[in-house]
Amino acid sequence: MSALLHPDLLRDKTIFVSGGGSGINLAIAKACASVGANIAICGRTESRLESAAEELRALGARVVPAVADVRDWDAVQAAFARTAEELGPVSGVVAGAAGNFVAPAEQISTNGFKVVQDIDVLGSFHVAKAAFEQLRETQGSVLFITAGQSVRSMAYQVHVAAAKAGVDALMRGLALEWGPLGIRSNSIAPGPVAGTEGMKRLTEATGDQLWNDMVPLGRFAEAEEVATMATVLLSPLSSYVNGARLTCDGGLEVGGSTEYDRATREAFAAATQQ
Ligand code: NAP
Ligand code: COA
Repeated sequence: MSALLHPDLLRDKTIFVSGGGSGINLAIAKACASVGANIAICGRTESRLESAAEELRALGARVVPAVADVRDWDAVQAAFARTAEELGPVSGVVAGAAGNFVAPAEQISTNGFKVVQDIDVLGSFHVAKAAFEQLRETQGSVLFITAGQSVRSMAYQVHVAAAKAGVDALMRGLALEWGPLGIRSNSIAPGPVAGTEGMKRLTEATGDQLWNDMVPLGRFAEAEEVATMATVLLSPLSSYVNGARLTCDGGLEVGGSTEYDRATREAFAAATQQ
């Protein structure tokens, strides 16, 4: 899909992706690399970062894999300093590191609630703040990875809903504060993405079909479909897009009741067949 983008869209730009060692974030890193970008990725697990770096180098990118927990300000700062030194200042930053588990609100401990806020909200803030001087220099942009839970409630996800709503608010605030300095801030809300850790956790109890039924397009996304839109948001194609929360979710956030919609369709079909 990103093969449809111009191969020089991000030529020689530096893109930093937090949580870029796996899943949707790695797909974004790969999509950026495939249009000419050099890539820095951070995460907690060195082996995961190294194997992701190999995939990115195979696409022609120069790569900095930096072990850094986004909750640790000093580690995040060090990762950005190393990135600038080895690849040049960042033109795009993806704040994608996040944590999730499925649990009823009344059973989530203080630390369990806090750990998700710390990774998602504080971690995203750290990543954006550490990038600030470099982004001012390059007139670049920040892309936050949010989720449908921030606007559409879902059982056993209050900690994630609160965290991603915080990420949405952070994005909008930075669009306002940093827009005048030439730095754009946006976010993307993926729907269910096939083969990801996030969906593995959310489908354990439900299976896949229920999710297919909730999405008007009737299927999961491929990670590359989300990654292509993310690449566009990070690129000059989106030079006037600031403060936008783009859904890339097959229509999931439109809402509706799966059972009502199905029953209505079936009843209408039965009535019109007679
Ligand atoms: P994933 O593969 O688990 O991606 C999360 C990444 O973040 C991992 O590489 C993980 O690596 C890293 N990470 C976690 N905690 C970290 C920390 N404290 N510091 C630094 N890195 C950390 O999951 P995914 O499903 O692809 O999700 C990626 C993003 O998309 C998340 O923001 C998620 O909320 C969002 N999203 C996903 C879906 C979906 O369908 N999967 C839908 C909507 C939104 P380490 O564990 O090695 O640190
Ligand atoms: N249900 C309820 N509470 C849970 C839980 C679950 N399934 N999993 C973890 N917690 C609680 C722990 O019990 C702990 O609270 P406590 O100290 O009161 O017992 C707290 O969360 C922190 O757990 P810990 O394992 O120390 O955190 P961590 O920083 O090592 O890991 C997580 C963070 C829990 C979010 C972990 O799932 C993770 O690393 N996730 C990253 C990958 C991911 O979530 N991918 C999907 C993308 S959104």
